[in-house]
Amino acid sequence: MRVLVTGGAGYIGSTTAAVLRDQGHEVEIIDDLSTGHRRAVPDGTTFHEGSLHDRQLLDAVFARPFDAVVHFAAHSLVGESVDRPLKYWRNNVGGTLTLLERVAWGGAKRFVFSSTAAVYGEPDEVPITEEAALRPVNPYGKTKLAMESAMADAATATGFAAVALRYFNAAGAWKRRGEDHEPETHLIPRLLRSILLREETFAVFGDDYPTPDGTCIRDYIHVRDLAEAHALALAWASEPGFTALNLGTGTGHSVREIVATAAEVTGRDVDPPVQPRRPGDPARLVAANDRARELLGWQPERSDVGTLLADAWAWHRDHPRGYAD
Ligand code: UFG
Repeated sequence: MRVLVTGGAGYIGSTTAAVLRDQGHEVEIIDDLSTGHRRAVPDGTTFHEGSLHDRQLLDAVFARPFDAVVHFAAHSLVGESVDRPLKYWRNNVGGTLTLLERVAWGGAKRFVFSSTAAVYGEPDEVPITEEAALRPVNPYGKTKLAMESAMADAATATGFAAVALRYFNAAGAWKRRGEDHEPETHLIPRLLRSILLREETFAVFGDDYPTPDGTCIRDYIHVRDLAEAHALALAWASEPGFTALNLGTGTGHSVREIVATAAEVTGRDVDPPVQPRRPGDPARLVAANDRARELLGWQPERSDVGTLLADAWAWHRDHPRGYAD
């Protein structure tokens, strides 16, 4: 297929673009490099540096229609979204609308969207199914939910197939690509970087949650498994309409379990201090992934936490300062 990947210089976008290219797809990428990295763009793809707000660029890129669009380009820091909500609404929703217009005008028949478990907010029940209430608790999750609604309406009205993939905790690394955000807020890169640089910068945020060891439980999913799900979703999405699918393993791990596995994988002693809870962290987020397994035939293969942390550790060791190395 001829596939446009927006945000293809980012963490999950570049890994997905590389996997699609390796599977023989013809891949074009748009990324404004505001948070992505030029070095993450896979060889053998066509790269357009620019923003989804640039209508002329989009018109030029869509001059020849695509078979599919995979849309990652968005801001994705929960904390920043609380401090600067309009940045998120303008960029995430505005950019998606401009893109969806081109798709609706005949630019592609398939649209796969990078969504998030943040659309659920604080769940009533865990594991979380796609039928759970959608009550995002921060602007990041609210903008992702608004984008899902826009694409669902457009898909129904104009007859393209739209799939929203709701990721739980993306982690790990694949080949030359890994996690390099600025600022870095995520558990695994923060933990591994502190081990690698022997800096005491890592702390556990809260050990008084209602979980067996008192620390928060999350569902960590390897970036390679996420990329594969996008490839499968492209192949599957043929009927007009909207489908949302959770992407997680169905198994939760506490912060302390991740710290213990990181100690095993790295061979270093790790005994981080405990700090107060981080505002807005739910105690437990775990996916029900039956729908993705059934519809796509998807199965996570590298997401056991030992493999996931070993892959992330290998990347961080090779890139102690991220893509700057
Ligand atoms: N944590 C620490 N110390 C750190 C960083 C994180 O203890 O230095 C803890 C957090 O408190 C949380 C867990 O590790 O309990 C995971 O935190 P992350 O920041 O890695 O991930 P989140 O679960 O907060 O966020 C993820 C995605 C978001 C998405 C959200 C859905 O990164 O994009 O899940 O709720 F919105």
